[in-house]
Amino acid sequence: SKKLLVDVDCGVDDAQAIMLALAAPIVELLGVTCVHGNTTAENVCKNVLRVLQACNKLEIPVFKGAGKPLLGNVIDAGHFHGQDGLGDAPDPNAPGLDLLQKENAVSAIIRIVNENPGEVSLVATGPLTNLALAVRMDPSLPSKLKGLYIMGGNTESRGNTTVCGEFNFAADPEAAYIVLNEYQCPTYLACWEFTCYNKLPWEFCDAWLAQDSHKARFMARIFRHSMEASKLERFEKEVVAGGGFISCDSYAMAAAVDDSFVVESDHYPVSVELAGTHTRGMMVVDTLGFLKKTHKAFIMKKVDLERFKQMMMAALK
Ligand code: BDR
Ligand code: CA
Repeated sequence: SKKLLVDVDCGVDDAQAIMLALAAPIVELLGVTCVHGNTTAENVCKNVLRVLQACNKLEIPVFKGAGKPLLGNVIDAGHFHGQDGLGDAPDPNAPGLDLLQKENAVSAIIRIVNENPGEVSLVATGPLTNLALAVRMDPSLPSKLKGLYIMGGNTESRGNTTVCGEFNFAADPEAAYIVLNEYQCPTYLACWEFTCYNKLPWEFCDAWLAQDSHKARFMARIFRHSMEASKLERFEKEVVAGGGFISCDSYAMAAAVDDSFVVESDHYPVSVELAGTHTRGMMVVDTLGFLKKTHKAFIMKKVDLERFKQMMMAALK
């Protein structure tokens, strides 16, 4: 089996990513840790519990983590995911926060990885605050990870949140810097432009949601808001032609779940700009080795889209 620990800021694509993992027979999901991002850390916890409930998996432990970035202001993505992070489609039967674990997310990450040295892959689909705090508390943590899968950063300096900043990195640039520089384990990045080039066509989304299942009906409700917001986005019209949904976080998850999903990647040292006027939070790719770093990340380039669609379909069966 594949032991995964997932750190999320549960918006709609995080929910899709979690459901993709839960549907994969090979995956053992050891826990879900929550961080600020698309919405408040408290909403993120509620959202994760709702997703687990929809999948009948409430036995998976959920931990609350950082509610703010290391430095700078809190930002959210309510305009896209809905103010509550899940499309503002509340459920009166949603599980209560009493189901949360008492342990903090950062301690849980450290404990779970140390209990399973060399076996856990960490999948991070939100701002990297919890992961940065974890490596500060336990510098040996990265050496005990099997792999690290991150949705975040960008390769063409195209931002979706600031001029040059992708949301997860822009929401906590210092944390992204710490993680990219200190997690010296096999690291796989699903960056923003890559996800844009691999959209799920709207026709696929319609067929996906039309499946006759409780999970598909749940997804249809929480997805409506971001589907509509997505059709209005600038990048939808200008940057990448062809309509479709960008389920950003699901690419990082798919790579963690299935080793054959990533067909081609670049392998370069990466870091994050912290000081620029327009570029704070932008990922930098050191193609010529200026940074003198030994550690390189795999930057996803080409993936098996058919396999991706199969995994997404299975997520709502
Ligand atoms: C990232 O930002 C969030 O809104 C999404 O959940 C994804 O993790 C994309 O930039
Ligand atoms: Ca996310």
